[in-house]
Amino acid sequence: MNIRLNSQWRQLRQYNPPVKLKEKKSGFATRAIHTGQEPDAETGAVAAPIYPTSTYVQQELGKNKGYEYARVSNPTRTRLEQNLAALEGGLGSRVFASGMAAIHAICTLFKSGDHIVCGHDLYGGVPRLFNQVLTNYGLEFTYVNTTDPQNVERAIRKNTRMVYVETPTNPLMAVSDLLAISEITRRKKVELVVDNTFMSPYFQQPLALGADMVVHSTTKFLNGHSDGLGGVVVCTTPEQLEKLAFVQKAAGAILSPFECWLVLRGVKTLAVRMEQHNCNGKIVAGFLAKHRKVKKVFYPGLADHPQHELAKRQMSGFGAMITFETGSLGNAKKLLKNVRVCSLGESLGGVETLISHPATMTHAALGEKGRKAIGITDGMVRISVGIENVEDIVDDLEQALDKI
Ligand SMILES: Cc1ncc(COP(=O)(O)O)c(C=O)c1O
Repeated sequence: MNIRLNSQWRQLRQYNPPVKLKEKKSGFATRAIHTGQEPDAETGAVAAPIYPTSTYVQQELGKNKGYEYARVSNPTRTRLEQNLAALEGGLGSRVFASGMAAIHAICTLFKSGDHIVCGHDLYGGVPRLFNQVLTNYGLEFTYVNTTDPQNVERAIRKNTRMVYVETPTNPLMAVSDLLAISEITRRKKVELVVDNTFMSPYFQQPLALGADMVVHSTTKFLNGHSDGLGGVVVCTTPEQLEKLAFVQKAAGAILSPFECWLVLRGVKTLAVRMEQHNCNGKIVAGFLAKHRKVKKVFYPGLADHPQHELAKRQMSGFGAMITFETGSLGNAKKLLKNVRVCSLGESLGGVETLISHPATMTHAALGEKGRKAIGITDGMVRISVGIENVEDIVDDLEQALDKI
């Protein structure tokens, strides 16, 4: 750790006091609404101010109010970083321009020759970043089915630095045992990073289960309104926070003040939104599971899901992400053409129901062979169940399924 980093860390601590790990004095919804969301000290404004500034006036050389340049820090960003850390039970967090920028930032902590073990069934953009960008810089990746922790243990080598797990996975909704995997990563002295995008901290708390860092695409449930892109890394140690603050400053893929504010606003309703997403998700999954045209449903809340018991232990809800098999590309196309309430679109986690086709959209980059290897078929459809009246979502799916 060099002197420059030390002084930078002291300054960041002053303006972004860390939330103590696992300190949960107030309930989740209260933290979502109040942590980092305190009324503005100057005016009393209840909503956090947006600071659209590129720089800050300095009192004299070397003397400022803690903010020097907006790539390095911004008060709206500081608020969001405090808030998200409090929700995940982390020491602090760093936000980035997108979920992918956050994942990329974590990978810049490693060097050429380092090895990463990751799930074989991840959001398609992640293997695209790993295989088509980061391997060019000498990082090595091994993909395993993380639903069996033994696969993770077997893949760890001397040069392994990180195990990267998405649970549940996108789009196959496979659930990995975080407690079992963290027991392995601790023993092997490897960092465990978990993508918690699908569950949000409301339903799953990976840090409490032994993860070292949590990553999110805030674009999804945390923001919740499909109106901004963003990513966050929630950390458990000052070193991680310091290094990622340095990456924010050095590489610059930071989240804009306006988008920080959008997430601060969105996250205030995270608890009630997630309750409704979960409620609607369970009803839609139950409907699909009984429909004669649906061959298979992938949803951890269904009793026949292979990791249903684990999901019940590890998560406090099953969420709103469902993948189902229509049997063929033709059937998937007809269904997607005929939905009216569900919107055909590539994202998830918004208040509106979004429906997508993993093979040609989110997971196109894997190629046919890559998709086949992990079981993504052309007939699969993924749905992010929104919080509309659930009978309208079910009726819409029913009329569209009738047309295939
Ligand atoms: C699970 C998961 N992680 C990460 C990402 C990447 O996030 P972003 O689109 O904000 O870059 C996505 C995007 O869909 C995702 O589904």
